[in-house]
Amino acid sequence: MRVLLTGGAGFLGSHLCDAILADGHLVVCADNLLTGRSENLVHLSHEPRFEFLQQDVCHTFDPGKIDYVFHFASPASPVDYHEHGIETLQVGSTGTINCLELAKKCNAKFLLASTSECYGDPLEHPQKESYWGHVNPIGPRSVYDEAKRFAEAATMAYRRYHHVDTRIVRIFNTYGPRLQINDGRVISNFMKQALLGEPLTVYGDGLQTRSFCFVSDEIEGILALSRATEHLPVNIGNPHEFTILECARLVLQSTGSRSTVRFEPLPQDDPRQRRPDITKARALLGWEPKIDLLTGLQLSLEYFRAAVQSRDIEAQT
Ligand SMILES: NC(=O)c1ccc[n+]([C@@H]2O[C@H](COP(=O)([O-])OP(=O)(O)OC[C@H]3O[C@@H](n4cnc5c(N)ncnc54)[C@H](O)[C@@H]3O)[C@@H](O)[C@H]2O)c1
Repeated sequence: MRVLLTGGAGFLGSHLCDAILADGHLVVCADNLLTGRSENLVHLSHEPRFEFLQQDVCHTFDPGKIDYVFHFASPASPVDYHEHGIETLQVGSTGTINCLELAKKCNAKFLLASTSECYGDPLEHPQKESYWGHVNPIGPRSVYDEAKRFAEAATMAYRRYHHVDTRIVRIFNTYGPRLQINDGRVISNFMKQALLGEPLTVYGDGLQTRSFCFVSDEIEGILALSRATEHLPVNIGNPHEFTILECARLVLQSTGSRSTVRFEPLPQDDPRQRRPDITKARALLGWEPKIDLLTGLQLSLEYFRAAVQSRDIEAQT
C-alpha cells in the first residue's frame, strides 16, 4: 500500500512511520512541523519507500494515488494546543475534511487519530466508547477537545454520505522515546525534572489518576484497528490506573533521582480520572498492552537522558 500519514514528524506519527514501513508499505508523510521535529524522521532520510512533504494539511494538496490515510496531524499536548489554539481548531476541522476528501477521491481507507479528551472530565469511569463525554465547550481545553469531536463527526459523516471506509481510534495518554521533553505532559515533565534533580511538579493533591500506555503498545493497537473493519470508535490505551503521586514515585525509581515533589494549583478543567475501558479492543482486535509503567519508563530513560542533556532543550523552550 501507499500510505499517507499526516503528522508523521510528531511523537506518535514517527513511530507509526517506522511500523508501517516495517510492514512493507510505502509512506508519504505530510507534516508542517508545527509541533513535530524533522529529527524524529532523520533515520528514514535514505529510505526509498519514505517520502516527506512539508505541508499544512489545512491547505489542499495532492499526494498522488494513496491506499490508506492515517490522519494524525494536530497539536496534542496541552502546552502545544494552548499555544496554537486556532491552528488546533483548523487542523481538526478543515485539515480533517481535506484528508477525508483525499480518501474519498482515491477510494482509500481512512483512520482518524482521536483522543480520550473527547470524554472531557468524565462522569463515567472507566470510559467506554459508548460514553458521550462531559466536555466544557468554551473552556481553555475546548480548542482541542471540540476539534477532535468535530473530526470524529466529520469522519462518520464521510462514511455515511460518501461511503469512505473509516476507522476512529481514541488514543489515551501515550509516552516513550521521542515524546517532546517540554510538552508539559506528566511523564515528560517528571522525567525532565527528575533527571535535572529539580522538584517534580504535582498539580492539585496528586490523587487524580491517569493511565499511561507505552508507545509500542499504542502503535500495535492502532495498526490492529487499521486492519479491522470496525468503524465506530475504539479506545486504545493502558487501563492500569495510577495516581500522579504514584507515577512520581515510579519516575524517581526508574531514574534513581533524589528529587522531591512540589505541589501547585490544579489547572482549569483538569480531569480527575482518566482510564480506558479496553473491552472492545480486547474482543475485536485481540489487543492488550504488554508494557507496565516501570518497564516503559526504563525503556524511555536513555531517550530522556539524551534529550535533557541536549542543548535542544533551550531551543525547544
Ligand atoms: N500522544 C498522546 O498521548 C496522544 C493522546 C491522544 C491523542 N493523540 C493524537 O495523536 C496524534 C499525534 O499526537 P502526538 O503526541 O504525536 O503529537 P505531536 O505534536 O508530537 O505530533 C503531531 C504532528 O502533527 C503535525 N501537525 C500539526 N498541525 C499540522 C497541520 N496543520 N498540517 C500538517 N501537520 C500538522 C505537527 O507538526 C506534529 O508533527 C494527534 O492527532 C493527537 O491528537 C495523541
